[in-house]
Amino acid sequence: MKNIVILISGRGSNMEALIAARDAGQLPVNIAAVISNRPAAAGLETAAKAGITAHFIDHKAFAGRESFDAALAECIDGFAPDLVVLAGFMRILSDGFVRHYAGRLMNIHPSLLPSFPGLHTHRRALEEGVRIHGCTVHFVTPTLDHGPVIIQAAVPVLDSDDEATLAGRVLRQEHRIYPQAVRWFAEDRLRLDGGRVRLAAELADGAVLIAPEVR
Ligand code: GAR
Repeated sequence: MKNIVILISGRGSNMEALIAARDAGQLPVNIAAVISNRPAAAGLETAAKAGITAHFIDHKAFAGRESFDAALAECIDGFAPDLVVLAGFMRILSDGFVRHYAGRLMNIHPSLLPSFPGLHTHRRALEEGVRIHGCTVHFVTPTLDHGPVIIQAAVPVLDSDDEATLAGRVLRQEHRIYPQAVRWFAEDRLRLDGGRVRLAAELADGAVLIAPEVR
């Protein structure tokens, strides 16, 4: 079974969705640890209550990005994860950190990337008047909120929406697609093909089909 480490900064609802999927037998991974860069992150308590090792490494205690990222990587690597899962981890990561975890670092972002990278995605979607919004799980590259897309979910933007209602509709989809993406990784079904992710389906005879459709 693959080992994962989840990084959070706050509420941790995506982390909770991953724990719930694991507990329901739908996500065959060992959640080795949850690590936050903020000591007050509510998700740390949730993780501890679920019996998961929970750590914080306060980024404010470090002189710069490189020294924090080095301490974070040392802590992560102590758990020997196959995959590092960014679940509302609100830090820009150094190139060295991203390179160290190339192909085994996933992020969820509350927009249909490449639209609306960065902050305040729901407000910006409303300001731009888009009719479709959503969320994306992707492998991480050194560019912020960028990288090969694993899965996306789209939701309509309604005339009656404000930032909160739209955020809520997107978040419900986040909680569906993140466990799905991590499950595909756990099942060794994700293949990187240039900037694209292919989903492999095992055939009965053991051959592997690289299927363009996501079922
Ligand atoms: C989620 O909406 C996630 O997509 C977003 O932060 C929120 C964390 O919520 N991440 C980003 O914006 C990353 N660029 P959660 O702590 O309840 O999972």
